[in-house]
Amino acid sequence: MKYIVYETPEQASRAAANLLEEVVAGTPKPLLGLATGGTVVELYRCLVQDCAAGKVNFSATRTVNLDEYIGLPHSHPQSFAYFMHQNLFSKANFQPENLFLVDGSGSIQEEINAFNAHLQANTIDIQLLGIGNNGHIGFNEPAPTFTCAAHTVALTDETIQANSRFFNNPQEVPRSAITMGVRDIVKARKVVLLAFGAGKAEPIRRLFADDEVDPMLPCSIIKLAADAVVIVDKALADAAGLA
Ligand code: PGA
Repeated sequence: MKYIVYETPEQASRAAANLLEEVVAGTPKPLLGLATGGTVVELYRCLVQDCAAGKVNFSATRTVNLDEYIGLPHSHPQSFAYFMHQNLFSKANFQPENLFLVDGSGSIQEEINAFNAHLQANTIDIQLLGIGNNGHIGFNEPAPTFTCAAHTVALTDETIQANSRFFNNPQEVPRSAITMGVRDIVKARKVVLLAFGAGKAEPIRRLFADDEVDPMLPCSIIKLAADAVVIVDKALADAAGLA
């Protein structure tokens, strides 16, 4: 696992977009593992821009998203499916049949079964990750043990608070979600974790502080990935004490 520091989030997002585009260009039917959240908005803008400029072609690209809130249909503006359509899918030449999105308003067990079957049958070529202030990846929250496969999760108060900025008030934030498990994430051929700003410094500092894999710091599982890179901006690197 290594890290790369860029001066600004914009430069870091561009670098991460280039990594995804290299995979798309070099793989016949690439499978991208995608993330949602404020951190990845600029990266998706780069992909959209490059697609419009003819620099990348997503027509054969398959995608699978990390997670989804339970209880929100895809039409809900705060669902992750909606986020993906708004920020990426509707603005570049992705084909609807290539996009795997969990339906948080469907039958939860059926959704999890389908998610697990999909993740077992396919290998993610590159998995994009954001990180929570508490070190979560996807919605794998700090817990006494890791969960390998897709599962439902109760969101921590910290996560509900952090995500309430996207809702009218914290009461509207769903209390549970469906997420990929940690095995699904580390099985990816390449893992790219993006984190920006001093507010995310603490989990990143802890990630690089030792050689341990600790379910109370879920992001630490990426130490087991074949090829993991953490891309940060200078503000975060300075606050985390990364050189
Ligand atoms: P953010 O979320 O990009 O909105 O900070 C990341 C995450 O919680 O994984």
